Amino acid sequence: MMTEMSEVTPQTRNPPEAHEPDLVIEVQDLCKSYGKTVIHKNLQFDVRRGEIVAIVGGSGSGKTTLVRQIIALERPTSGTIKVFGENINSVDAQTARLMRCRTGMLFQQGALFSAMSVFDNVAQPIRELGRVPEPLLRDIVMLKLEMVGLPFKHAYKMPAALSGGMIKRVGIARAIALEPELLFLDEPTAGLDPQSSEEFVQLIATLHRMLGLTVVMVTHDLDTTVSLSTRVAVLAEQRVLACAPVEQVAGIDHPFIHDYFLGARGRRALQALPAERRRQLCEAALAPAEAGPRLTSRPTPGNEDGK
Ligand SMILES: Nc1ncnc2c1ncn2[C@@H]1O[C@H](COP(=O)(O)OP(=O)(O)OP(=O)(O)O)[C@@H](O)[C@H]1O
Ligand SMILES: [Mg+2]
Repeated sequence: MMTEMSEVTPQTRNPPEAHEPDLVIEVQDLCKSYGKTVIHKNLQFDVRRGEIVAIVGGSGSGKTTLVRQIIALERPTSGTIKVFGENINSVDAQTARLMRCRTGMLFQQGALFSAMSVFDNVAQPIRELGRVPEPLLRDIVMLKLEMVGLPFKHAYKMPAALSGGMIKRVGIARAIALEPELLFLDEPTAGLDPQSSEEFVQLIATLHRMLGLTVVMVTHDLDTTVSLSTRVAVLAEQRVLACAPVEQVAGIDHPFIHDYFLGARGRRALQALPAERRRQLCEAALAPAEAGPRLTSRPTPGNEDGK
């Protein structure tokens, strides 16, 4: 099942001079270390316009660190990162500001400022741009809250008075406040019950369609990965081991992939794919998900706690 096509290797990548306008993110030869600890080593990663790319990998494999470098919150040790065709570590301040406006982020932790109301949280990126007349600001915030399915009556509540699912929605409303083209989501469904999680997946799918977004999400949630992603990037061994549609990635012979995708939960998620994609699955992924043989004795990384 594994194809050379799905492996990201220097041979399969475009040479840097052949810049495609469709490439929204281009990460080349990225190395990142904290002291002696190497997190990324010669990592390659591309995202095209309109894609929903799920980044999966064991806890501590460097998923959040990769995203933080792409949004310039963290500097690479070496290598280049281009976003919208611009090298993020050599752009001038004005271009950097513009690029921030074109990008939204839902952080893994602390999605909201706890001392600000829902309204002020969503308004904050807009206010940062400069003075916006209050009636206009109110309209924009109302629209964003409506887009994420949060009634405006909650606008003056403080984050502590909201449920986990509502906090995530407000976090998304804030991330899309400036109508970005590129949206990063770090563990968007972590901590949500299955129904809220499913609703949230539907919300992302709707926003992706409505706003023509490119989405990069880090997730441990198999159902989210399978139902939303156009490609899955597997982070292991300090690099992106593969980046391809989930039905191809699931067939790659690698211990992490085996454990992650081919356990009972993984098989169940994969078998929910539409028929034409299910046909591409390897045999092991098609084994019965309910009472099938245990394919591995190792725990599924990142899923032990039901995240
Ligand atoms: N500022 C920092 N200083 C030192 N080490 C760091 C720093 N940030 C991250 N690390 C280390 O880098 C590694 C990767 O961390 P990262 O948060 O990117 O992992 P992750 O894949 O997002 O994990 P999780 O799934 O648990 O969120 C970890 O070992 C972490 O301890
Ligand atoms: Mg993380």
